[in-house]
Amino acid sequence: MTEQISNISLPSAAHVFASSDARTVPVYLVRNVGEVTSIADLSTAQQAWVLANGFKAKPCQTVNVSALDGSMAAVLFGIGDGDTGQPCGGGEWLLGDLPRRLPPANYRIENAQGSGAAEAAALSWGLGSYRFRRYRTECANDQEPPRLVIPENINAEAIRTTTEAVWLGRDMINTPANDLGPADIEAWARALAERGGANVEVIAGDDLLKQNFPMIHAVGRASNRLPRLIDIRWGREDAPKITLVGKGICFDTGGLDLKPPAGMLLMKKDMGGAAATLALASMIMGLGVDVRLRVLIAAAENSVSSNAFRPGDVLVSRAGHTVEIGNTDAEGRLLLADALALADEEKPQLLASFATLTGAARVALGPDLPAMFSTSDEAAQAVVDSGLQCADPVWRMPFWAGYDKSLSSTIADMNNISDGPFGGAITAALFIKRFVKKTNSYMHFDLYGWRTAQRPMGPKGGEPHVARAMLAYIQALAQA
Ligand code: BES
Ligand code: MN
Ligand code: ZN
Repeated sequence: MTEQISNISLPSAAHVFASSDARTVPVYLVRNVGEVTSIADLSTAQQAWVLANGFKAKPCQTVNVSALDGSMAAVLFGIGDGDTGQPCGGGEWLLGDLPRRLPPANYRIENAQGSGAAEAAALSWGLGSYRFRRYRTECANDQEPPRLVIPENINAEAIRTTTEAVWLGRDMINTPANDLGPADIEAWARALAERGGANVEVIAGDDLLKQNFPMIHAVGRASNRLPRLIDIRWGREDAPKITLVGKGICFDTGGLDLKPPAGMLLMKKDMGGAAATLALASMIMGLGVDVRLRVLIAAAENSVSSNAFRPGDVLVSRAGHTVEIGNTDAEGRLLLADALALADEEKPQLLASFATLTGAARVALGPDLPAMFSTSDEAAQAVVDSGLQCADPVWRMPFWAGYDKSLSSTIADMNNISDGPFGGAITAALFIKRFVKKTNSYMHFDLYGWRTAQRPMGPKGGEPHVARAMLAYIQALAQA
């Protein structure tokens, strides 16, 4: 039986950027209302119009200014008085809020000041221009989007590559599970790999048992959409070896320990880790970062059927450990364990896992701030710093060894859940860390993969958290 694959098109951001010879309307980024009278290109009448409109340069406050002939002369956009590149994405990062307020035309940013400001503004424009239209048949309100001309002194190619990679991650997360099963995740991975010139190998269904991935198989076997391990390799053989592992649960019912309705509602996004790894891989390949990249995606549907794995079952993992199942809803750590064991076999220089692993991480840090766990203080600090710089923040939590014993089982080597209600993000991280034995630098990200409301950097919906934060760190590794 071959599985139905739904349509895949890698996103293009060509329609939200324009070429440099286009006629453009200037956009002024304004920090405080006092700056209005110093914009020399505005007449005193135009300045008076701006003030008469109540413009105070508040964050995202916008006013359009016309020329005498009625054409658009300029746009003023408030960015507040805060520092550039605030951790919460203030300053120039607010610009992504502007496209949805503007009529179609070509725009340029007139006054981005300071290092990285023009890049931040342009990238924010790209990210904020994202729309998910796949299921909209009524497009009455649609119009051409406004386009930004990227100034010549910054790397327009990098802005577009990054924008499109984030859009790819968002498209995957936003696509519902009926159109995004494990086979579709494979198809997306293959499309990306083909464009980047990467090699892909896939182990699916019963072959997972033959090749010793018993826990990936157990998690996915109740669905008639076969579970699989997707293995992508790219890059120069002797460049630094970096392996990214992603959780690709296309839908998490909780298995037999079924989730309640409210908890199940958003579970199409349980492949957010896979989307983040593919977004990051897309950036690495698109920008030609000199690393030896390996991406492992464990893709499955955590479903319910007579052959579903059960609470109380004991599974044998790839690494040989036995795992008693305390709850079938703690499925992500099971398939990650087998994928991490494989990754660890070749002892990469950096191993990183990305997963919508626990609700507890969200209780701890909220939806916008992924939890990061790292065996290296240095790597942890570097990723926190780069995350703050590129407005893709992460926050460190500890692999707290003292909680390790809470994963003990009376009949097997370990249980897949801890024996109490506390520290769930940490105990999940400790569980998967047991399968990383040789690799020196291991990082794990427990991310939400979803933006809960419209923000300047993007609409409500899927978000491949951490991809941009990790890009900067991996670029630095490649140059070291
Ligand atoms: N995919 C969920 C975690 C999740 C839930 C992430 C909501 C983001 C939002 C994961 O598979 C899960 O169900 N985890 C359980 C673990 C528990 C059974 C130990 C959880 O967090 O409740
Ligand atoms: Mn679950
Ligand atoms: Zn899950």
